[in-house]
Amino acid sequence: MTGRVFVIGGPNLGRLGRRQPEIYGDTTWSELESLCLGWSGELGLELEFLQSDVEGELVGMIHNAGDDGDGIILNAAAYTHTSVAIRDAVAAVDIPVVELHLTNPDARETFRRENLLTDVVTAGIRGFGIGGYRLALVGISAMLKAGQNSIG
Ligand code: DQA
Repeated sequence: MTGRVFVIGGPNLGRLGRRQPEIYGDTTWSELESLCLGWSGELGLELEFLQSDVEGELVGMIHNAGDDGDGIILNAAAYTHTSVAIRDAVAAVDIPVVELHLTNPDARETFRRENLLTDVVTAGIRGFGIGGYRLALVGISAMLKAGQNSIG
């Protein structure tokens, strides 16, 4: 294994597949976990797949990932636009954090343009739907193999 990656999902992502499928698609969170397990296995990454609707629990998950992991793929969902606590947790870890959104929040309602994470994360992937998770895993794998906190 080349690294341990934590995929962390925020509020309402546990309802994926049933939640506004016209926007977020019909893949469920549990199906996404299976897909990510397959992709991470191909890349030689160990995967932890976590989700919570609770802000404080997400802060704890980010801390734990910072202590025990090598990279984080974070879809903070609605907390992206509101949570100083999650921003501070991301800023406090020193492993790469990829911010991921299934949709492109900038192309949606104006309140989604507020983003408290963008300047504290390592990289971002948005608008690729479920396939974005594969891109994020490939990106983190490349970073870890290169032994650095960014590609390049
Ligand atoms: C989201 C975008 C957010 O604006 C929204 O609140 C979500 C999902 C996405 O993956 O596109 O819950 O993070």
